[in-house]
Amino acid sequence: MLSWEEFNAEESTAVRPANNSAPDPALTEQAEKIAESLSDPEISNDYPEPANQASADEEQPTAEQLSAIKQAQAAVEKLDTTLGEEELAGQAERVAVDDKAMINCRADLNQLVPFKYDWAWQKYLDGCANHWMPQEINMNADVALWKRKDGLTADERLIVKRSLGFFSTADSLVANNLVLAIYRLITNPECRQYILRQAFEEAIHTHAYQYCIESLAMDEGEIFNMYHEIPSVAKKASWGLKYTNEISDPTFNTGTPDTDRQLLKNLIAFYCCLEGIFFYCGFTQILSMGRRNKMTGTSEQFQYILRDESMHLNFGIDMINQIKLENPHLWDEKMKQDATQMILEATQLEIDYARDTMPRGVLGMNAAMMEDYLQFIANRRLNQLGLKEQFAGAKNPFPWMSEIMDLRKEKNFFETRVIEYQTGGALSWD
Ligand SMILES: [Fe+2]
Ligand SMILES: [Fe+2]
Repeated sequence: MLSWEEFNAEESTAVRPANNSAPDPALTEQAEKIAESLSDPEISNDYPEPANQASADEEQPTAEQLSAIKQAQAAVEKLDTTLGEEELAGQAERVAVDDKAMINCRADLNQLVPFKYDWAWQKYLDGCANHWMPQEINMNADVALWKRKDGLTADERLIVKRSLGFFSTADSLVANNLVLAIYRLITNPECRQYILRQAFEEAIHTHAYQYCIESLAMDEGEIFNMYHEIPSVAKKASWGLKYTNEISDPTFNTGTPDTDRQLLKNLIAFYCCLEGIFFYCGFTQILSMGRRNKMTGTSEQFQYILRDESMHLNFGIDMINQIKLENPHLWDEKMKQDATQMILEATQLEIDYARDTMPRGVLGMNAAMMEDYLQFIANRRLNQLGLKEQFAGAKNPFPWMSEIMDLRKEKNFFETRVIEYQTGGALSWD
């Protein structure tokens, strides 16, 4: 580990001006001489070669390097620190908690503290504490089972393929929505800090699916193209993409009730519907497989992903509710109806996906049970947004899913990690 002592020692031995803020006069003089010599063809070729080229420490800068250094020094001296002040008008001061807001904030977004939304910062810390990587999970049992002709039934194979097909691109859609659409429009640094963490987690999830696909030697083209080729997968993807496209245009800005509502709808679409409904059929199917001791590596990958996803969902709901709190005029009857409609559409799409992926009963479940489960989930999402439940009396037929998602009960979650497992690409210091 690098210590400050080592760091300072390195600094003091480095060949560079002691004071970074001012150009080194000796170097400047040298550069000026070189620049003069360059302009004089009579003497430009007479510049002495460095005395000892073999020693890196004693090597002299070339005329070209000195000229470039001089140019850089001149540019730094002339640097205009007022650049961007127009955009930041009124922001060039210390930020107070009350200056901060979820959307349309005028305070400096580069000042992380003081925190206004402790829940956002806490989720960032919790996300970091849950860090994991797909290669840490042993896939050997899955490879053996997948290769065995009688290892899985045709219906079970269909579930594995559809799940990897849907999720391998769905997590990219979520990541793109984060960085290309909402990051810019959420004007709070602690929320942005979590969004950056979430974006990396989405990259890890896509990595995990790719890792499963590669381990099982699946047809990559078939799996990654499923969101174009299989209607029940394609519909879910295009339903989400519509909301990204609405606000990802660089000229789109919030600041009017209509545009603020568009952002709010995007958050509901991605956090509550995509991550909060579209993931649930596939997750339940794969985790049910793991509970039956089948595809245990894939199932463990999904378990880690589900843990991350439940935090993404909770963060999204907190963000939406905070925006509602700060902008009550946005949450009118029309907006409530639209939000309810979105949850219902997403539920229907997921029910269609359940029917497509489970033409018959499989793994102790069937499409009808999944429909009940999705209605139960939809009620929860409506509740979390402060909306009226739409499926009276819906019950959860898979209580074990709630147990898996309730992390406080999953005390032994990390015990299944295979820490000695090392892939070919991992670093070794031996
Ligand atoms: Fe994800
Ligand atoms: Fe996510």
